[in-house]
Amino acid sequence: MTDHPRKILVTSALPYANGPIHIGHLVEYIQTDIWVRFQKMRGHVCHYVCADDAHGTPIMLCARQEGIEPEALIARVMEEHQQDFAQFAVAFDNYHSTHSEENRELAEMIYRRLADAGHINRRTIKQAYDAVKEMFLPDRFIRGECPKCGAADQYGDSCEVCGATYTPTDLKNAVSALSGTKPVERESEHYFFKLADFETLLREWTRGGHLQDEVSNKLDEWFEAGLQEWDISRDKPYFGFRIPDTDDKYFYVWLDAPIGYLASFKNLCDRSGLDFDEYFAAGSTTELYHFIGKDIIYFHALFWPAMLYGSKLRTPTAIFAHGFLTVNGQKMSKSRGTFITARTYLDHLDPQYLRYYFAAKLGSGVEDIDLNFEDFCNRVNADLVGKVVNIASRCAGFINKRFDGKLAAMIHRPELLDEFTAAGEAIADHYESREYAKAMREIMALADRANQYIDELKPWVIAKDTARENELQSVCSMGINLFRCLMIYLKPVLPVMAEQGEAFLNVKPLQWSDLGSPLLDHSINIFKPLMQRVEMEKIHAMIDASKDDLSQKTAGGGKPEPGTGHLADNPIDDEITIDDFAKIDLRVAKIVRAENVEGADKLLQLTLDIGGETRNVFAGIRSAYQPEELEGRLTVVVVNLASRKMRFGVSEGMVLAAGPGGKELYILSPDSGAEPGMKVK
Ligand code: 2FM
Ligand code: ZN
Repeated sequence: MTDHPRKILVTSALPYANGPIHIGHLVEYIQTDIWVRFQKMRGHVCHYVCADDAHGTPIMLCARQEGIEPEALIARVMEEHQQDFAQFAVAFDNYHSTHSEENRELAEMIYRRLADAGHINRRTIKQAYDAVKEMFLPDRFIRGECPKCGAADQYGDSCEVCGATYTPTDLKNAVSALSGTKPVERESEHYFFKLADFETLLREWTRGGHLQDEVSNKLDEWFEAGLQEWDISRDKPYFGFRIPDTDDKYFYVWLDAPIGYLASFKNLCDRSGLDFDEYFAAGSTTELYHFIGKDIIYFHALFWPAMLYGSKLRTPTAIFAHGFLTVNGQKMSKSRGTFITARTYLDHLDPQYLRYYFAAKLGSGVEDIDLNFEDFCNRVNADLVGKVVNIASRCAGFINKRFDGKLAAMIHRPELLDEFTAAGEAIADHYESREYAKAMREIMALADRANQYIDELKPWVIAKDTARENELQSVCSMGINLFRCLMIYLKPVLPVMAEQGEAFLNVKPLQWSDLGSPLLDHSINIFKPLMQRVEMEKIHAMIDASKDDLSQKTAGGGKPEPGTGHLADNPIDDEITIDDFAKIDLRVAKIVRAENVEGADKLLQLTLDIGGETRNVFAGIRSAYQPEELEGRLTVVVVNLASRKMRFGVSEGMVLAAGPGGKELYILSPDSGAEPGMKVK
């Protein structure tokens, strides 16, 4: 297997430099890191590179908002990202930035080659412009009413209420999200990449075994729709690289982002003596893999191979797309506390739990995966603590105490050990094809076998009989050797536990090829517990903390640009459909009477006139209102909320109020003229 080591270069998508890494991102980094560690254990030459994606309008505005230079922002965020990755044991061979000299040079080179070959067009287009902020507005920075359903305050490219997609000029009553003023139309010359020049190549490439089947099928839809020219320029002010031979045009962030893969590798080559051209010249026999989220397939499976091909560089060996992460079956949500940053997770839980859990859920397809906390807790405790670690802890004590740490010179049950090593090829195939869930299942079945063996042989019974010393040593040594096999198999997923396992076993870093050479007549060290059980309370604490630190979640800068959702950067809190919304019956109500509630210092009891009907509602607004100031006022109430029996009586609806709480609580009131009972819509 290692006679001809493969030369492999692997990337994960580059995270934007204006927000923290969160558990949605981690699916991809953990998935990739497992694959890379596996390849290295198999004896292949494998380099894993990544970088911060540092350019674009959101990052420029984010820095502006903080009153710092973009360079300072991206330096700070890059530091944070790297710390998070390191703690999750995501081991890049190089981590760089798209705002780097290597990237500037490579982006210019690729652009010039494309331009020289006639693949770049220029033409003047009209775009929305903010005359106050003196800048063109990306679609995401224009807000207005949806042209289809009329919902207010929608983005310039799509409606979050009805899902319609459109262009910003279709929005009604559009305003700039930056200044609040009405955008004007302005002309400017843009640069376009002529994607259609590569149609033949792309049709072939996308069917050439480089993509997952479901991805190839998606691409067929895009071919049907026709390959459009891609706008690769942005006007100043912009944080990015200036386009050669222009004064004020910049490369669009998505042009130089994938080139950042090359830049990071170039940086590694320059430091370590690797040959960049061996990996990137056209016709290279090395392998190049990009792990990405399913929503940035367009960039990676169409633009990217076309750019590489058009600039006479090699194209990727394969693109591996994965699905999104849901938590407890729903989109990550700030209000539910399931938008969990890497940092918050690390404050509460062992990163290895998440690595194992994701591995246990990941397959090779693009389906979403769900993190269910109950399942997470059960699975980690049952599999890792209950099965794997248990094997070592059941055997180590006897070896240490009774045999001075020395393992037996013979294997007690050779056929069982053979069974363990023979499983190696199937497990390796699963890793290779990113079927980690299948690999974990095989490994846990082996762990069950090992525990069964110990249960049958009962070393604790043998230990009582001094005449059976040899047998005790043989059985426990066998258990330790089975544990060692499992450590080899789990090492790509649990590198930290494997390292502790290696220290306990007193062996050099385990490789896949070590499977064939069990430990005989070998001294091991004292066993220390390799993993603590997950406690549900810690999970709850983490969720609570995620509710608290909302302000830190995104470092301002508005919504990321389109095509960024794969990292679930921008969860919408508790998203509902228009049909869900339509179920809520909101009415204007008149507060006829308001009274304090004995024994409940947060509540007021309100008697509401909702138009010919009276409702009794307990509202938690006492901190902000005296009862008498409310009487006679109009407000808005949810009238079809199921009644709730409280200690003081039944509450028959809910009054709407805004604000953080305490004194800062404001009940909603319609303008004068509204009548009790009117429907609010
Ligand atoms: O979607 C994103 O978060 C981008 N920052 C990913 C870039 S991947 C590559 F093209 F650089
Ligand atoms: Zn709409």
